[in-house]
Amino acid sequence: MKKGASYGLLTALVTIVILVAIKIQHEHLKMESRWMRFTPIKRANKHWDGLPRGIMESTSDMELKHLWKTSRFNSINVNITVLLAIAVGIKQKHNVNTIVRKFHLVNCSVMLFHYDGNVDEWRDLEWNDRAIHILAYNQTKWWFAKRFLHPDIVSIYDYIFLWDEDIGVENFHPERYLQIMISEGLEISQPALDPDSSEIHHRITIRNKATKVHRRVTYRGSLNCSSESRGPPCTGWVEGMAPVFSRAAWHCVWLLIQNDLIHGWGLDMKLGYCAQGDRTRKVGVIDSEYIIHQGIPSLGGTSANKQLSHHRSPEQMTIKARSDRSVDLRSQIRRQSTAELEIFRRRWDQAVREDEEWTDPFHHHKRKRRAS
Ligand SMILES: *[C@@H]1O[C@H](CO)[C@@H](O)[C@H](O)[C@H]1NC(C)=O
Ligand SMILES: *[C@@H]1O[C@H](CO)[C@@H](O)[C@H](O)[C@H]1NC(C)=O
Ligand SMILES: *[C@@H]1O[C@H](CO)[C@@H](O)[C@H](O)[C@H]1NC(C)=O
Ligand SMILES: *[C@@H]1O[C@H](CO)[C@@H](O)[C@H](O)[C@H]1NC(C)=O
Repeated sequence: MKKGASYGLLTALVTIVILVAIKIQHEHLKMESRWMRFTPIKRANKHWDGLPRGIMESTSDMELKHLWKTSRFNSINVNITVLLAIAVGIKQKHNVNTIVRKFHLVNCSVMLFHYDGNVDEWRDLEWNDRAIHILAYNQTKWWFAKRFLHPDIVSIYDYIFLWDEDIGVENFHPERYLQIMISEGLEISQPALDPDSSEIHHRITIRNKATKVHRRVTYRGSLNCSSESRGPPCTGWVEGMAPVFSRAAWHCVWLLIQNDLIHGWGLDMKLGYCAQGDRTRKVGVIDSEYIIHQGIPSLGGTSANKQLSHHRSPEQMTIKARSDRSVDLRSQIRRQSTAELEIFRRRWDQAVREDEEWTDPFHHHKRKRRAS
């Protein structure tokens, strides 16, 4: 009897031990599988995401395809290498038409970001059906660019023109412009602004009639720009109204655009970090192909908020009231933009402080603290 009882006890003990062991192993497996899930699977080049290599299409384009004619092979022959993207409102239809017609001289994909809801009103334009139209109410150029110009999606394009809608292109030829950009080795550029007719915010953007390209400006003033200057606003800088980016530069700039800071203020000052090297060489303003910046306030225009033009005509009270309302709206947008600028600066500074690996390539004297 006694023996039987101790056998029973032993059996119970062994059972408990086995159960505990199973439980531990089970937990271990569970943890392991959880761990597996969070650890990126080492991707053998050959079977990325479980697909055979030949089927994988790693780039895309903004070209419209025919519903029943096979266009896959046609599109390879057409060297569409330029993407023109503009945030537009119907008020600038005439001007946008002029810009797009110029760009059709080169084979170029066109994307219009409609911020005012008027899409159908563009249908009478000859090129309308070949453009891609995206509508989102009251959004800015940078908002659209962040959402619809992901670098992977636009990676077939050699150059991306991300322009405001109020640009005058009378003296601008895209093909010649691109030739200069390529031959000068520019990764980020903008056409110079005609000083006589444009709204100028920064001296570096003013056209120099004597040169084809300039990369710096020198002047004395509240800010001293000399040949020694190494960064914005003296060199290595373009403004946000008509930038042109190489593929590599755009990859970087897209990352720099913040999802919530939709007005893009402060971004231009940091563009030089995306220049794929020395910003004093790879960022430039092209003088021989120049534009007029009309500075028309709108969501599509960078300058929308920078200048408040007061339109006062005593005999037209309704127009005055309406313009007062829009001035009020603009001053609110301007306030928001200024606030965003401050947030962007703080975010940049914080990122610089927190990233131990990163050193400022343009900071020649004061290196970041490292293991010293
Ligand atoms: C497009 O192709 C033509 C001729 O095939 C070539 O001359 C031109 O440089 C190409 N354009 C670009 C931007 O590569
Ligand atoms: C544009 O594409 C057409 C083919 O559709 C081609 O014949 C033409 O040379 C291209 N033009 C440029 C400037 O690349
Ligand atoms: C867009 O903004 C305008 C001006 O503030 C406003 O009148 C309009 O209702 C807005 N549209 C939408 C869809 O939010
Ligand atoms: C700019 O340079 C001038 C002459 O060298 C100098 O007097 C002035 O203080 C400088 N201004 C600034 C803001 O550095």
